[in-house]
Amino acid sequence: MTYAAPVTMDTRFPFVATAAFNLEGIVARELRRLGMEDARGEMGGVRFTATLRDAFYACLRLRSADRVMLLLAQGDVMSFEDLFQLTRSVAWDRFLSSDAQINVSGKCARSQLMSISDCQAICKKAILESLKQARGQKVFPESGAPYPIHFSIHENHARLCLDLCGPGLNRRGYRTYNAEAPLRETLAASLVELSPWRPGMPLYDPCCGSGTLLIEAAFRQAHRAPGLERAFACEGFGFMDQDVLRSVRAMAREEYEPARITHIAGSDIDPQVLALARKHCQQAGLENRIPLEVQDLRTLTFPEEDGVFLLNPPYGERLSDQKTCHALYRELASLQSRHPTWSLCAISSDPGFERAFGRRADKKNRLYNGRLECQFYTYLPLQGRAKGRR
Ligand SMILES: C[S@@+](CC[C@H](N)C(=O)[O-])C[C@H]1O[C@@H](n2cnc3c(N)ncnc32)[C@H](O)[C@@H]1O
Repeated sequence: MTYAAPVTMDTRFPFVATAAFNLEGIVARELRRLGMEDARGEMGGVRFTATLRDAFYACLRLRSADRVMLLLAQGDVMSFEDLFQLTRSVAWDRFLSSDAQINVSGKCARSQLMSISDCQAICKKAILESLKQARGQKVFPESGAPYPIHFSIHENHARLCLDLCGPGLNRRGYRTYNAEAPLRETLAASLVELSPWRPGMPLYDPCCGSGTLLIEAAFRQAHRAPGLERAFACEGFGFMDQDVLRSVRAMAREEYEPARITHIAGSDIDPQVLALARKHCQQAGLENRIPLEVQDLRTLTFPEEDGVFLLNPPYGERLSDQKTCHALYRELASLQSRHPTWSLCAISSDPGFERAFGRRADKKNRLYNGRLECQFYTYLPLQGRAKGRR
């Protein structure tokens, strides 16, 4: 894959939006909603084609993806020489400025080439070789903007990408304080998407911790681009027209309608953690838009007619905590009994969740919360289901 023509903001390129395990379908759906019609999921990500302009729009707007990367080359590599030649085949001078900070990172799995540091060194050497030849450049001060270059080698197939994001897309910028076991923002957004909740319906998190699920749902309801207030690596790339990027950001800002945020609320038993949730809401620009209160879910009743309880309860990874967690899961079942027109969705790594809850879930999605294998359980409203169904 070489790009001989000059790069403009309307040039179409292949891209990869990387995604966590089992979230590829959600990311593909998001991309299609954004107008990238050829988006199709594959293991660990979604391939799509777009102009540079639209790819930046995807960086700003994607909720569930980890990164957006421009695919520069791919091919089979069995040796360092193969990797060198593949890297060398990219017209790097079209993308990298002469003072570019060339940061190569990557991963290897089930391949002949398994040494990440050696692959990093080979890629960098090939990039510099290519620049020397194309421009006659002899010195590389690397004093300019960072260009994050990513290789991945899986089953001897290599891919070379330029990461448009820099820090992962989970870094929205609003979460600066860490409560215990917070959800990654991208996973929280995915849970919102996987749940039966749709904008306009009531949503309540009775174990809201530092508020991630609530903030992500509010962003979705208000069409708020999650990346609106953060910077992206591509805003330092010389080949990207910075005026166009500014106009794309301005368009995303206009799409934000905070007044649409209603019926999203939460509580937690811990007043200290709730103070963090308030801080995060404020930092997300959502001050006073999400009602929050100290409340034990065991006594919670909520007046709305129907809606979705969405939560990330404690998991009880240590044996000593398991009893308490199972008792809490039983309490979740009784919370839903007190609100028979509400769905309840919870993520947990505890294999005893359904037994403790007392009912099989209507739907389960296998996901990872960090390194923990989890299930996301969906219990549809009790009212209206066939008698005798358990
Ligand atoms: C895993 S954390 C939630 C983290 C949250 N999703 C975030 O991103 O920060 C679980 C939360 O459940 C809360 N909790 C535990 N027992 C509770 C109860 N009986 N009622 C309400 N909240 C409870 C804890 O205080 C804790 O904040």
